Amino acid sequence: MEIIRTVREMQRWALEEKRKGRFIGFVPTMGCLHEGHLSLVKLARSRSDLVVLSIFVNPIQFLPGEDFSRYPRPVERDESLCLESGVDVLFYPDSAQMYAPDHSVIIEETLLSRGLCGATRSGHFKGVTTVVAKLFNIVIPDVAVFGQKDAQQLRVIQRMIRDLNIPVEIIPGPIVREPDGLAMSSRNRYLTPAERQDALCLRRALDHVEKCIQEGERDVETLRKELAGVLDRVPAVRVEYIEFVDDETLQPVKRVERLVLVALAIRIGLTRLIDNTVLMTRQD
Ligand code: PAF
Repeated sequence: MEIIRTVREMQRWALEEKRKGRFIGFVPTMGCLHEGHLSLVKLARSRSDLVVLSIFVNPIQFLPGEDFSRYPRPVERDESLCLESGVDVLFYPDSAQMYAPDHSVIIEETLLSRGLCGATRSGHFKGVTTVVAKLFNIVIPDVAVFGQKDAQQLRVIQRMIRDLNIPVEIIPGPIVREPDGLAMSSRNRYLTPAERQDALCLRRALDHVEKCIQEGERDVETLRKELAGVLDRVPAVRVEYIEFVDDETLQPVKRVERLVLVALAIRIGLTRLIDNTVLMTRQD
């Protein structure tokens, strides 16, 4: 496995491999890798000749007061995991490589990024779209894989690709869960054992809504109350949002018909966690 730290070298490598006709798969990450990331590497591998994984804790997608400085950076462990999972190139730039001191160009998606996480993390998605566009220009991938756990991020990036005609195919990777149902996330590390136990209410709440759907309930207000009831049973949980939105437009819906994304954000102690599922119904 090669480790590349500069933009210039990464671009040179990518252009050279493309000249040889190689297909490049890309997994952008902020490191602190877990099984979820490794499943994205596997997906990228199945669709390409070479896999590039980037690790960059992107300062411009964190808001003031968020966890940028304490975001876990287990460098050696991440490198070993990349090696073991067959990554061909680990792109590991520092901030000076990624942002000129007077950088002044931002890419902003203005519709899908407004609600859900965008409502409380204003400016977060401009940071994401800007860094992802930059990474696409540096790694020059044919396909890029993004996890479904960050459902809004995935849809915002798909919209950016469409609207800016970026020639990269986006492949969604399914949510990977711990055996007890907790969605894998680098931020799970912040949880104390008691908080981790409390965090299982996310999966319980989503399971409960799926059960309600199977039993025929379609009214979103009723489903929202059912879901909130499960979360409310855990005193340590503060609900940030419970949203039922159209899976494509991310606009709120009143009834569950066709594909509806149920997205949750909660806080437990100092940790913010998100989870989601897509509800599928046959048209009534
Ligand atoms: O999902 C993430 O880890 C980040 O938002 C991403 C896509 C790597 C951009 O910094």
